Amino acid sequence: MKKKLQKKVYTTDGKVKIISTSEEDINLKLGKIIGPKFIEYRKQWDLANKMELITEFPLFLHLDMNQTCNYKCPHCIIGTPSEVKEFYDGDFLTFKDYKKIVDEGSDYGCPSIEPQGNNEPFLTRNLHEWIYYAHKKGFIDIMLNNNGSAFTKKRAEEILDSGLTRLRFSLDAATPETYAKVRVGSIPLEKVIRNIEYVLELREKKNYKLPVIGVSFCVMKHNEHELGQFINFWKNKVDIIATQRYLPPIPNEKGVAPEKYKKYYSTEQLNEPAINEFKCVQPYQRVMIKNDKIGPCCVSFNKDLILGSIHSSTIHDAWHSEKMKEIRKLHKDGKYYLNKTCSDCVNLYYPNNDTNKKINALNQSQT
Ligand SMILES: C[S@@+](CC[C@H](N)C(=O)[O-])C[C@H]1O[C@@H](n2cnc3c(N)ncnc32)[C@H](O)[C@@H]1O
Ligand code: SF4
Ligand code: SF4
Repeated sequence: MKKKLQKKVYTTDGKVKIISTSEEDINLKLGKIIGPKFIEYRKQWDLANKMELITEFPLFLHLDMNQTCNYKCPHCIIGTPSEVKEFYDGDFLTFKDYKKIVDEGSDYGCPSIEPQGNNEPFLTRNLHEWIYYAHKKGFIDIMLNNNGSAFTKKRAEEILDSGLTRLRFSLDAATPETYAKVRVGSIPLEKVIRNIEYVLELREKKNYKLPVIGVSFCVMKHNEHELGQFINFWKNKVDIIATQRYLPPIPNEKGVAPEKYKKYYSTEQLNEPAINEFKCVQPYQRVMIKNDKIGPCCVSFNKDLILGSIHSSTIHDAWHSEKMKEIRKLHKDGKYYLNKTCSDCVNLYYPNNDTNKKINALNQSQT
């Protein structure tokens, strides 16, 4: 039977779009499975996204625990170790640090956590124990992306019993040829597909409703022609298909994409009109802890926005710090371009935006 894709998409940060492959919206489905606490959390999430609510504690803890990966995808900062060295500092998170973060979140009833950033999470031994710890401490939306290469049968067994809510496999390709190009250093695509099929079968055999399982596709110049084929292949197999916009990992000295990253922009991104307005909702939703450093968002080059270290600050204090208040206000007022990092971020994300023009116009109007 031909499957109808759920048209309504939801997005965590404007960057990732989720298509439910069933008739039902995925968050409605999770609300029914997990219950009122999940429904309440999603209401708060929606208000935070409208910048109408600043919660006592972030709704979402995003943890870039280390920068260890077995692939070197050219569109990802991990593909260029010298850039990782330049833009990341601090110590990798230990299980002890992680427990401290989870414990503080738990004290405030924080609902959501993602213990994965620019790395391959399944290279962390006993990751299921990390996830189970958050689950036991009351987190109800625990999510992960992974590249599927380290997802053995044993990991599948462990993860199904860990309390994980959402599991995504990043593929970015429909054919082995494109997969090898976009996922440099990868195992063959067929093997990753088998790993995904195994966990789907196991979930069915155990009659588990969770985790929701999906695949993702970061749309770029060299894979955009395969998106339709990708959706057709996966729509009858997984619960969600996520598509993602490409964001060059770092800016150059002019605050736009360096040449080596420019070439990955999708045709759609290159042809879309310049934007008139941009407001970032991430500082209303989350903190991202990169190694031990607490920041307001997920980009790799946000050193200037760092709020402190988990070794010397609580997350609660960082969340209510003057710096965090300033960045929230900047975005609420629609003045992202007054912050250099945000300005670069928007230029990278929307290649036809030119923040410099906005700043020049602003300077002229003030003289
Ligand atoms: C950074 S990876 C980390 C988890 C895991 N290693 C994986 O590949 O899924 C998470 C997701 O970010 C995507 N990604 C990496 N670099 C990106 C970029 N420059 N722009 C947009 N998405 C990117 C990947 O394709 C993947 O779907
Ligand atoms: S597998 Fe994930 S973390 Fe590793 S290089 Fe690719 S996108 Fe980056
Ligand atoms: S750099 Fe600024 S605009 Fe970009 S994600 Fe972070 S807070 Fe949002």
